[in-house]
Amino acid sequence: MTTAGYKRKTNFALNGQPMSLEVDTRRTLLDVLRDELGLTGTKRGCDRGECGACVVLLDGLPVNSCMTLAALLTDGESVETVEGLARGGALSPIQRAFLENDGAQCGFCSPGFLMSATALLRANPDPTDAEIKDALAGNICRCNAYGRIIASVRAAAKAMG
Ligand code: FES
Repeated sequence: MTTAGYKRKTNFALNGQPMSLEVDTRRTLLDVLRDELGLTGTKRGCDRGECGACVVLLDGLPVNSCMTLAALLTDGESVETVEGLARGGALSPIQRAFLENDGAQCGFCSPGFLMSATALLRANPDPTDAEIKDALAGNICRCNAYGRIIASVRAAAKAMG
């Protein structure tokens, strides 16, 4: 049996670069990022929308890429992954704040937290702790580093302010 019928062309911007891909309509954005494009910064944790390790930004909003079919990306949509945060070799303010405030323990969940925090601080540059917790509610850290993660986001907001 051929799988030709399961292919669809999709055009989107990936970390600011135009992409044109023919994707299997059964594969998720997470599958395509990791397995086809080699962008392994986005992590596969639960693979069912529960942990947030796979969060990327879709048109600036955090989504679980394990729950997003790659073929459903529409022309011109923008996907941002953790690989796109650093510019010209310099960490983003949020990455730097995580580094300086020990916001990562094992680090597996960090890309998802970084992307959710990036979306938060773009929309709300001076969030309260309650707003930070709310924005990160879809991200789980099995090392229980939540206190340092929230402190990192707070420090990033201050640095960017
Ligand atoms: Fe996508 Fe856990 S891997 S939410």
